[in-house]
Amino acid sequence: MPEMTSNLSGQHILLGISGGIAAYKTPILVRRLVEAGASVQVVMTANAHQFVTATSLQAVSGNPVRDDLWDAGAEAAMGHIELARWADQILIAPATASMIARLATGDASDLLSTLCLASPAPVSIAPAMNQQMYQHPAVQRNLASLQADGCRIIGPDSGDQACGDRGPGRMTEPEDLLTALAEQSLTGDGRGPLTDCTVTVTTGPTREAIDPVRYISNHSSGLQGLAVAESARRAGAKVILIAGPGVAGAHAEIERRDVTTAQDMYEQVHNALPSTDVFIGVAAVADYRPANAQGQKIKRHRQEEPDMRLALVENPDIIASVVQSGQVKVVVGFAAETNDTLNNAREKRARKGLDAIVVNDVSDHSIGFNSSNNAVTLIHENGEIDFGIQPKTEIAEQLIYQLGALFKNKITL
Ligand SMILES: Cc1cc2nc3c(=O)[nH]c(=O)nc-3n(C[C@H](O)[C@H](O)[C@H](O)COP(=O)(O)O)c2cc1C
Repeated sequence: MPEMTSNLSGQHILLGISGGIAAYKTPILVRRLVEAGASVQVVMTANAHQFVTATSLQAVSGNPVRDDLWDAGAEAAMGHIELARWADQILIAPATASMIARLATGDASDLLSTLCLASPAPVSIAPAMNQQMYQHPAVQRNLASLQADGCRIIGPDSGDQACGDRGPGRMTEPEDLLTALAEQSLTGDGRGPLTDCTVTVTTGPTREAIDPVRYISNHSSGLQGLAVAESARRAGAKVILIAGPGVAGAHAEIERRDVTTAQDMYEQVHNALPSTDVFIGVAAVADYRPANAQGQKIKRHRQEEPDMRLALVENPDIIASVVQSGQVKVVVGFAAETNDTLNNAREKRARKGLDAIVVNDVSDHSIGFNSSNNAVTLIHENGEIDFGIQPKTEIAEQLIYQLGALFKNKITL
């Protein structure tokens, strides 16, 4: 990744610290932010004091640490609403399961959660907790809600944990948090890298009816495309999201169009093309559909044809049709491959005339389909960039940053 932390110079960063063991890393984080030229105000929850001292944080940030909504002295110096307005960005690191739940439900019961509601600044959170806690459906549900509300989730990393477990839940390291904040930061004129741009994203599977109760589909969850749409929105784009069945949620500012079949998706994509600058096809579109979908449920025990054969016809190649339309400045495809991943993707990019292709190896079941993690390679005309295993939200953020940089000239034409 290119050096970006210089973007942080002059930024006002509000660092929220909640009561997790990883809070011991926050003085280093503050130190690095200050070295990058940012002004840092620290807000701690009451429980965070169990893990790190306010004295250290005050020393490294150069500012008094806030921890109480009802501190009359602190309110007199800079009231909590003033502090909420002061922030260019809010980062909560570590974000405990409890803090995540409060943020997801809009529970403003302490200074930090109140500030998050009262601030117009983008909020990023770095979850940190035991792997069992992190994977609990309640925590995952809250994270998904926060993401749909436009909150950026950074990490967590996977590996050895303070409690002796191994798995996902380690707080992203301070250096990587710094890079993530730098990516998030807007340029000096308050515009993101995709401002004035319309990005159309497709996501999810399609369903191709066999009869009224059966269909052909695939395992796509739509999470990666949702994350790409959300990152593009945060980068300043107007986003149109064309989503297949079963894809949950999207930020209120994203224009969402729901479809079922590949044919529906094709039509919605072409409706969107006249206003689209960048097209990102993440959807796992069915290549084939039943030639004759039956109007009534097909019955078992059909003596005349015991070995049933299903005739299939090819669906339109949506992404190739977008390239052929010539209406879009940048076309990016996604490819899921199970073998000879990179070569297949290189060949596909060239054959379809795509500006870039993002490929993942779906033979590894710990990533890709139905997982919150992914590992992809971005292939463009002049090179390839690997994004190792990490949450789909983080992959999306880096991809949008890279696409914005790679195709800056084309996009701003
Ligand atoms: C030693 C110890 C370590 C803890 N580490 C974590 C942690 O890493 N992540 C987490 O979500 N909760 C952790 N907890 C539990 C939180 O401290 C607890 O849920 C608390 O209510 C969080 O409050 P806060 O979010 O207001 O800071 C830990 C508790 C103890 C006693």
